[in-house]
Amino acid sequence: MPDLLRIEGLRAGYGEAVVLPGMSLRLAESEVLALLGRNGTGKTTLINSIVGITHRFGGSVILGGQDITEMRPDQRARAGIGWVPQERNIFRSLTVEENMTAVARPGPWTVAKVYEMFPRLKERRNNFGNQLSGGEQQMLAIGRALTLNPKVLLLDEPTEGLAPIIVEELLKALGTITRAGGTCSIIVEQNAQKILGLADRIVILERGAIVHDAASAALKADPAVLERYLGVAGKS
Ligand SMILES: Nc1ncnc2c1ncn2[C@@H]1O[C@H](COP(=O)(O)OP(=O)(O)OP(=O)(O)O)[C@@H](O)[C@H]1O
Ligand SMILES: [Mg+2]
Repeated sequence: MPDLLRIEGLRAGYGEAVVLPGMSLRLAESEVLALLGRNGTGKTTLINSIVGITHRFGGSVILGGQDITEMRPDQRARAGIGWVPQERNIFRSLTVEENMTAVARPGPWTVAKVYEMFPRLKERRNNFGNQLSGGEQQMLAIGRALTLNPKVLLLDEPTEGLAPIIVEELLKALGTITRAGGTCSIIVEQNAQKILGLADRIVILERGAIVHDAASAALKADPAVLERYLGVAGKS
């Protein structure tokens, strides 16, 4: 399967500070990649660099054969980068429904489909972003990224703050979405155990560099890796 996302020698950070000294990473269509690592190892910076909101010192980002390196974040979104930021960033003065229709692009993910996955959002469709609970904002951020029908779905700790039953449904839905084709996902997750069942592949960062990149099945069989890089045993 051809690579859908290709990051080549990406050197990026904030201001003068380099956080990612030289990141190279490829994702195939239908691939679900879990990005793990201790706090401050550069997970969010990598996501933000794909979105285009960090300072780039060098390297390139190619999406479905198109070089998006020089594009602004809004242009990247239109090119197919769907993003659920760690701090959610929903439009607080728009309603739930407007938040989604504002960015929607044609494709299998419609507002109706999102409502099916998150009935809670349907109930709140006319509420403004600033009237939602933390969990509802979370669902909306994910719904908004989906209605963009992205080629790459970037989720920065999407399960944080959600009830366990919702987390389970969400992870299952993300697997279905990604494997349906035309897209790939990068999911940042603190809890390795939660994501091992869903992800095809696990990448662990340390000081802005990849220190482990393997099929999740291999990691399941070798919990010592989790202990070494994350300071947790197989369970957490
Ligand atoms: N806006 C910023 N300006 C300057 N430095 C930053 C900024 N955001 C993050 N950093 C620094 O970049 C490094 C990587 O941070 P990043 O947010 O990517 O880590 P992370 O792996 O996502 O951590 P966490 O698990 O806590 O979310 C850290 O040293 C952090 O202090
Ligand atoms: Mg982070």
